[in-house]
Amino acid sequence: CGIVGYVGADQAAEFLVDGLRRLEYRGYDSAGVAIHGGNEIAITRSVGRIQALADRLGTPPKGTMGLGHTRWATHGPATEENAHPHLGGEGEVVLAHNGVIENFQVLKDELITKGYAFKSATDSEVIAHLVAEGLKNTPVDPAQPNMRYVTAVQWAIAQLRGTYGLAVAFREKPGLLIAARFGSPLVLGVGRGEYFIASDASPIAGRTDRIVYLADHQIAVLTAEGFTVLHRDSGKVRVNIQPLAEDTGEVSLNGYEHYMLKEIHEQPDSLRNAMRGRLNDEDATAVFGGLNLTPQQLRGVERIILTGCGTSWHSALVGEYMIEEFARIPVCVEYASELRYRNPPIENNTLVFGITQSGETADTLAALNETKRKGHRTLALCNVVGSSIAQAADGGVYLHAGPEIGVASTKAYSSQCCVLAMLSLYFGRMRHMSFESGGRIIEELRRLPAAVEQALTCDSEVRRIAAKYADASNFLYLGRRYNFPTALEGALKLKEISYIHAEGYPAAEMKHGPIALVDEHTPSVFIMPRGTTYDKVMSNMEEVKARGGPVIAVASHEEAQIRRIADEVIMIPEVPEFLQPIVSAIPLQLLSYHIAVLRGCDVDKPRNLAKSVTVE
Ligand code: G6P
Repeated sequence: CGIVGYVGADQAAEFLVDGLRRLEYRGYDSAGVAIHGGNEIAITRSVGRIQALADRLGTPPKGTMGLGHTRWATHGPATEENAHPHLGGEGEVVLAHNGVIENFQVLKDELITKGYAFKSATDSEVIAHLVAEGLKNTPVDPAQPNMRYVTAVQWAIAQLRGTYGLAVAFREKPGLLIAARFGSPLVLGVGRGEYFIASDASPIAGRTDRIVYLADHQIAVLTAEGFTVLHRDSGKVRVNIQPLAEDTGEVSLNGYEHYMLKEIHEQPDSLRNAMRGRLNDEDATAVFGGLNLTPQQLRGVERIILTGCGTSWHSALVGEYMIEEFARIPVCVEYASELRYRNPPIENNTLVFGITQSGETADTLAALNETKRKGHRTLALCNVVGSSIAQAADGGVYLHAGPEIGVASTKAYSSQCCVLAMLSLYFGRMRHMSFESGGRIIEELRRLPAAVEQALTCDSEVRRIAAKYADASNFLYLGRRYNFPTALEGALKLKEISYIHAEGYPAAEMKHGPIALVDEHTPSVFIMPRGTTYDKVMSNMEEVKARGGPVIAVASHEEAQIRRIADEVIMIPEVPEFLQPIVSAIPLQLLSYHIAVLRGCDVDKPRNLAKSVTVE
């Protein structure tokens, strides 16, 4: 699910293919490019990797304008016919689309009765034909030759129900590229004599230092001479051209075999970056620049809703424990996909946090917009600067974890937990928390990166354990309190990249069902660093052992009893309970990584998953 587009003086193919490679991390199963050669548009598509597309392109067709796409299948399987770009009409329109068109079937039926022939099972092809139909119905205006094409796009998108990021080009207009956005991100790169479009800044970084983040309902019209942005239903809009930092090289593998492994090892640094400038010893609190709320509003907060999807939902669960413990504000955690339709009663003075690495997850964006519509303040905890959710929220906190390329989130998760810990401190210090307690939390946070560094030294031990259990078909992950979300996250990591079925449970709940799964082939991972429920978890571990289940314990101190019960013990440094989710996640990330590698799985691009889920 990524789009790129180019118009300028250079050959388009180079930017398109390189740009698609830089969008690979978002997840996809097929790809394609369309290059306008002046008279004809050459389309090349392929299932699988960008490399397969590049191989198929060979010496790419010549042309200084073109568009490209990576597809993550929603409507129709991942086949070449369903890959974008799609042609509209008799080939007079070419188009790439991200998003989902909900009313595509109705539109398709109408178009078929008008004689349009469909070649794919996608919802996107409908838009291509609609633009062609729009073109047919729009007269040429010699005074504004490009306007006819813009009008056709406007006419087409006015009929769409759903979300779209679009790149559209026309056979008879070789130098014109039109982009449109609603609910699916698009940025515009402003070069000199060349213009770019892309789903995020990564393809553009290094090609130009000026970027425009398109907003919903905007249409951008690009030629080699310049660009204009229009509102879908009205005229021109003024846009803010923002500086774009040069490509930092953070997207290279740096000698690691996979991005995921690199990102796991980056965590001491990404945590330092999350905390940089945010810990204030003088007042024993945290400092945030972008919350955009007055001290009165912040002190008046009576309830917090934390919402997100996937791994971000797990860090929300960690945040719930932290905020309730330190700030004593009631918190509820909601799946964004449920929150958006559930319509729960939300009291006044409720603050809604959307937690998201990418800042693009469609459900999280919709949940925030829905709560905002009802008058609640929304904040984003987000990693990607300028992303849709960062723009939609009233304010927020950036994670500063650097680009996370591996589809399975690692460093963004730990940074989310870390920022939530700082927010708990911040809200706590505005309420009843003493100066002394605030100071202690700051000290503990400062020691965290070193503890994570130490935890990473378990790598070779974890690899050994991985080899022993890589053939298992089921895993259980069990923990309590702060380590219950860790159990969920450990299980999710394993599922995501090794395709082994895994369940995370609060350790004590195990006896109410999952214990039935325990047998000699089902390893249970107990996350049990020393803390309030340590002895209780030890008993739960005995219960599994008594039923013949292999046990892997993640523990923070040597004890004969753990060694006696557990088949394997992974040692992590001791940290206060609220920071345990960050430190105990390290061996679990490594365990899933090594198991996935041993099973020959594609760690950074697991099957069926996407990094940035911009569809519902
Ligand atoms: C996708 C990814 C997950 C991620 C989730 C939420 O499903 O594969 O790794 O946790 O989206 O993404 P977000 O960017 O909102 O944190």
